[in-house]
Amino acid sequence: MSTRRPLLIAFLILSQWGSAHEGMWLPTLLKGIEGDMHTAGLRITAEDIYSINNGSIKDAIVHFGGGCTAEVISKQGLILTNHHCGFSAIQEQSSLENDYLKNGFWAKDKAGELRNPGLTATFIIRMEDVTDRILPNIPAEANTTEAQRRDAVGKLGEAIAKEAIAGTHYQAVVRPFNYGNSYFLIVTETFRDVRLVGAPPSAIGKFGGDTDNWMWPRHTGDFSIFRIYAGPDNKPAEPSDANVPFVPRHSLPVNIAGANEGDFAMIFGFPGSTQRYLSSYAVDYVLNTADPLRIKMRSASLDVIDAAMRSNDKTRIQYADKQASISNAWKKWIGEVRGLKELRTLDRKREQEALYIDRALKLGRTDLQEVLPTLKNLYAEYVPLATARDLFVEMVYYGPEILRFADGFRELTEEHVRLVGEGKFEAKAAERSAALPGFFKDYDVEVDKRVFKALLPIYRASVPVSGQPAVLKEIDARFNGDSDAWVDDLYTRSVLVNEASIAAALRLKPKKYAKLLANDPVYKASRSFFKSFLEQVRPQHAALGDRIETAMRTYVKGMMEMEPERTFWPDANSTLRLSYGKVEGSTPRDGVVYGAHTTLDGVVEKHIPGDAEFDVPKRLLELQATKDFGEYGVNGTMPVCFTSSLHTTGGNSGSPVLNAKGELIGLNFDRTWESTMSDIQFDPDKCRNICVDTRYILFVVDKFAGAKHLVDEMELVRTNASAGIPGIIQLPIHR
Ligand code: ARG
Ligand code: GLU
Repeated sequence: MSTRRPLLIAFLILSQWGSAHEGMWLPTLLKGIEGDMHTAGLRITAEDIYSINNGSIKDAIVHFGGGCTAEVISKQGLILTNHHCGFSAIQEQSSLENDYLKNGFWAKDKAGELRNPGLTATFIIRMEDVTDRILPNIPAEANTTEAQRRDAVGKLGEAIAKEAIAGTHYQAVVRPFNYGNSYFLIVTETFRDVRLVGAPPSAIGKFGGDTDNWMWPRHTGDFSIFRIYAGPDNKPAEPSDANVPFVPRHSLPVNIAGANEGDFAMIFGFPGSTQRYLSSYAVDYVLNTADPLRIKMRSASLDVIDAAMRSNDKTRIQYADKQASISNAWKKWIGEVRGLKELRTLDRKREQEALYIDRALKLGRTDLQEVLPTLKNLYAEYVPLATARDLFVEMVYYGPEILRFADGFRELTEEHVRLVGEGKFEAKAAERSAALPGFFKDYDVEVDKRVFKALLPIYRASVPVSGQPAVLKEIDARFNGDSDAWVDDLYTRSVLVNEASIAAALRLKPKKYAKLLANDPVYKASRSFFKSFLEQVRPQHAALGDRIETAMRTYVKGMMEMEPERTFWPDANSTLRLSYGKVEGSTPRDGVVYGAHTTLDGVVEKHIPGDAEFDVPKRLLELQATKDFGEYGVNGTMPVCFTSSLHTTGGNSGSPVLNAKGELIGLNFDRTWESTMSDIQFDPDKCRNICVDTRYILFVVDKFAGAKHLVDEMELVRTNASAGIPGIIQLPIHR
């Protein structure tokens, strides 16, 4: 194993050359593509972008709340991310009286900035290839099963991480790349006092709603502004009044000269996950089973939720966040299916696999020859289990909330005897009681019940009976097959669906409480869903997943070895990556051309007074009518969004789009619908990420909201990055 290592590393670096668009590159390997990026128009060095020893652009990049990206835009710790990334925080702070979703929020001064318990902002201190400290040290006997290997790698990784952070306040992990063909140490610093500074009204931040989501042309001002607070020593501290604005190592200059079509662009952020190297068997599953079933489930629940949200304002606020998270992936999957079909991805994969086997045969590599038939057999077993798992997730995590809520009472119910013995029952019960208002604030029992009724028939028809919860047998046994009647019965008899009755139950003596819950129909249904999944689905699903992982490690390594001419980049895994390309429009379909920019004129064109998605705030209409754009307008109009050919995925939301000099020109928030298959196959003509133009952001902050003091914190740049004497410049980052 160790004799092949240098070869693989060489592939990783060399193979980063090539295609200008596809790829999410590791910042530590940028030196290898620096020449290519310079050819593409970059005017700073790889060292300016990522350096371990000096301040660099990476010091302004933030992993926001674990799922999005944000960037530092002032020397006082101001950070910019998407409205949809700050959405939960904004919603949490909102009520009918203070509806920040509807009206927006702007802190007048630092004292008015709002704390968000649990929200984190993480910086990358450094990343380091530690493959050579992992692979050669996996004991031979630990390499027989994936679980043993994971264990061994975990121990090695922990030791490396521990050593890396000794004597610091940092955290560290070792993460696998390329299905465990390589490993990187990642050292991070996490701040826990992140305050809400400003957010536009949803009529700007979510303009176009779900109708426009994943679409171009787009007119959404999808941004919100937060600030990182640190202890007086500038180090992370628990939220407290004693904290002060964080002083960053680097903050991004904000460019308001804009970018022209064809200008170099790059994006730096935390893409979540891609599946570039899937086998045809896996693509077949995604395309023909997983996506269609999940789309069907979510279409059913969205029908219920959308109707309820339209019917009154209270439900609209209660369900805004839940609706957005259900509909987002739903629409993405619809685009993904279409894109994969158009690109003939399944056929192409099959063709590539035939070539792969051919090459392996010629080279006499039996190990590689066998790996595809192995994957084929594994997938035949995997598909029914994966279906059961996917639909369990849809049912319990995206379906009726009561199933997951009930699960929160499990310990208190099943282990009441132990808890009483340890004297902990009362504290735990009090904890549950305290959490009730938070849940019921956003819960509508009638909506929940209707969602349950809508999903259940699809679930029952799609999941193999062996993977279904036993409790569903009651539907035939007691309700003549009428699943609606079964659901009605659950909700009628349960104490869990009503705040007062579950609160009363929690005040009972432990034994009485436990007996009541154990016999509660919703609690029993929830237990049954979890039990069937945990016992009948997850173990086999995980075991097969492990065997697929082992095979994929061999398969991908074989590709790298047998196709040295091809471009490889490790699949996204929520680690820091950089993609580069240009500001450009696209040709998504035959006869269709998309321009690269949109303006405020388009916002007005889409305006539907009173509409939930397309109403335009009066103040914005006034500014447009009087062309009061301050210094942010161009030739009598206001730029709003643009597209660029940067390879992105979920997690890149809030990522900075930078020009050739590393200045902020846009804020990434979406891809076009014709791009969404790029997690599996990227197409340079079709695939575009969508950004809010920085000029629109500053215009909204300054002219619309009157929060000029925030703009004053920023460093503005007023020339295009390609202006001036051509060539590489010295970036004035402190060294
Ligand atoms: N599609 C974007 C992403 O994947 C934006 C989602 C939020 N917007 C919305 N209308 N739901 O996260
Ligand atoms: N909106 C996505 C996010 O939340 C980014 C869009 C994409 O998937 O490319 O990360």
